[in-house]
Amino acid sequence: MSSSTEHNRVTVPDIRARKVRDGSEPIVMVTAYDEPGARIVDGGGADLILVGDSLGNNVLGYEDTLHVTMEDMVRHTAAVSRARPRCLIVSDMPWMSYHLSLEEAALNASTLIRAGAGAVKVEGGKIRLPAVEAIIRAEIPVMGHLGLTPQSVLAMGGYRVQAKNVEAAQALMEAAEDLAGLGCFAIVLEGVPDIVAATVTDRLKIPTIGIGAGPSCDGQVLVFHDLLGLSSVKPPKFVRRYADLAGVATAAVASYAADVRAGAFPGEAESYHATAELEQALAGLSRPEPATLGGP
Ligand code: KIV
Repeated sequence: MSSSTEHNRVTVPDIRARKVRDGSEPIVMVTAYDEPGARIVDGGGADLILVGDSLGNNVLGYEDTLHVTMEDMVRHTAAVSRARPRCLIVSDMPWMSYHLSLEEAALNASTLIRAGAGAVKVEGGKIRLPAVEAIIRAEIPVMGHLGLTPQSVLAMGGYRVQAKNVEAAQALMEAAEDLAGLGCFAIVLEGVPDIVAATVTDRLKIPTIGIGAGPSCDGQVLVFHDLLGLSSVKPPKFVRRYADLAGVATAAVASYAADVRAGAFPGEAESYHATAELEQALAGLSRPEPATLGGP
């Protein structure tokens, strides 16, 4: 595989400049959590790989993202980076990795960068501005995330569309402007009415990337398992499934099981063969006498 400079990696300034209203193509972001997934997303031509903390729901079998740790994010960020993708890798800061102190926030962000990320994503608005600022001051690029922020699931009382009234929409717009003012290079808008996302997108100089936020954002993000039909739960309304890989994979395993049970796998072509000399020597070996139970 070629080196990073050879294959023209997507950079933070590349993404920062991608406003659709200025003639840019919409940004494409997809999550990935491991090396094969990163190769697929990169090969499909995405611009960004998000090592999302949706890792918890999609790979680790948790019901939410609150159980995902720094250790999990570091391991999976490193796995994604081993694919050496052209995509810019953005890693999620997991819950409680930026909530307690500004030093801890910057240090944890640096750990994800050292694991292979090119930027980190931080959930939340006004209350998280000091943490975002501390990370940016450490020269680490930050992507914001507003609206339905899954790490706030307990406080929100479930996964609900946000910014549905004037006051909440106003607060979201202010938070987006504050994040942009601090130097975030892009903002994910999740689970908000399309018109709210369109207004934020219009007001910001940096790009917005939507998920359940309508078509007016500067880009879109989908979760790998939702896009490919690999998740076990019914996906939310905003997901479009482009394949049924779970169906294909289950049918493939069923065919393998049937072949093994019928003695049809492995065949000649799937077996290693001995030299004539070894075959002859083995033919001369007799089977051991079966053990006898009891007396004569
Ligand atoms: O963790 C994740 O997958 C995300 C996206 C839904 C934006 O944060």
